[in-house]
Amino acid sequence: MESAVAPAASSVREPVLSLKGVSKGFGAVRALTDIDLDIHAGEVVAIVGDNGAGKSTLVKILAGVHPQDSGTITFDGQVVSIPTPTASRALGIATVFQDLALCDNLDVVSNLFLGREITHGTLDEEEMEQRAWSLLRQLSAKIPSVRIAVASLSGGQRQTVAIARSLIGEPSVVILDEPTAALGVAQTAEVLNLIERLRERGLGVLIISHNMADVQAVADRVVVLRLGRNNGDFHVADVSYEEIISAITGATDNVVTRRASAHAVAAAADAHGTAPDVAAPAPGRADVTEPVPDNATGADNPDDGSKEIR
Ligand SMILES: Nc1ncnc2c1ncn2[C@@H]1O[C@H](COP(=O)(O)OP(=O)(O)OP(=O)(O)O)[C@@H](O)[C@H]1O
Ligand SMILES: [Mg+2]
Repeated sequence: MESAVAPAASSVREPVLSLKGVSKGFGAVRALTDIDLDIHAGEVVAIVGDNGAGKSTLVKILAGVHPQDSGTITFDGQVVSIPTPTASRALGIATVFQDLALCDNLDVVSNLFLGREITHGTLDEEEMEQRAWSLLRQLSAKIPSVRIAVASLSGGQRQTVAIARSLIGEPSVVILDEPTAALGVAQTAEVLNLIERLRERGLGVLIISHNMADVQAVADRVVVLRLGRNNGDFHVADVSYEEIISAITGATDNVVTRRASAHAVAAAADAHGTAPDVAAPAPGRADVTEPVPDNATGADNPDDGSKEIR
């Protein structure tokens, strides 16, 4: 299976990777049901969701660890199957798992080229070293030496090496599972910078994260999974922290549901050219613009409750 035939150029921006109706079960457990997901070139998409929501299962399907039971995956406009990790890499999907899978006793160069060594009769250490530096420079990575054992690097530097290694195969999509989970503040900032470099290079980036600050700092879109189903797909610029959390937890009366019913009412009003009427099935919901302070802490009135807040 050689590289895909380029589809006819079109002015519509096609996603580089697209999932439609993807489902996966493990015995009686429905891990994923009817998942839709699009990732475009030069876009960072964050997947968020509670424990057990199906995030890792989704990553594993794309990485060729588990096949999906149903639904289609389209890559560069072609419907594909991803039966093995090798098939995933061959398509141009690079996955950095949370454990990073680095060899601690080997140096940075050896880790970067592990399994893809450059040889001209013998190992071409010099060329590999030069390419390692060039790649790390492009990523503005702060690694003291490429001949240092990976064991002596910080968590952020190790994440950087793992991400750099994923780029050796020149992928078009990079998947990062919890890239900042184990990192301190400065190292997290470094990894977020690195993700921005990936976007600048025109890669599609999928990150799994539990950290909303990271998601809001780096992602263009955030896709929420809940109990194995899509439960929201937002442009990060248009969504608040509270809305994302509501979608994750599935609160039934929250800003998301209120926005949705407001849109439905507005759409019905548009369709009839009238003001909203009986189409509004939301007794008691006077309006959807309930103010939520930017720095809301959840405490309405920390005092004795007798003061009236205006
Ligand atoms: N190999 C497996 N065999 C059986 N059940 C599995 C397997 N992998 C995942 N599951 C189940 O599928 C569901 C989704 O799990 P998944 O690991 O994808 O969730 P997650 O969103 O990654 O959660 P977390 O945030 O805890 O990592 C869970 O109910 C889980 O128990
Ligand atoms: Mg997981």
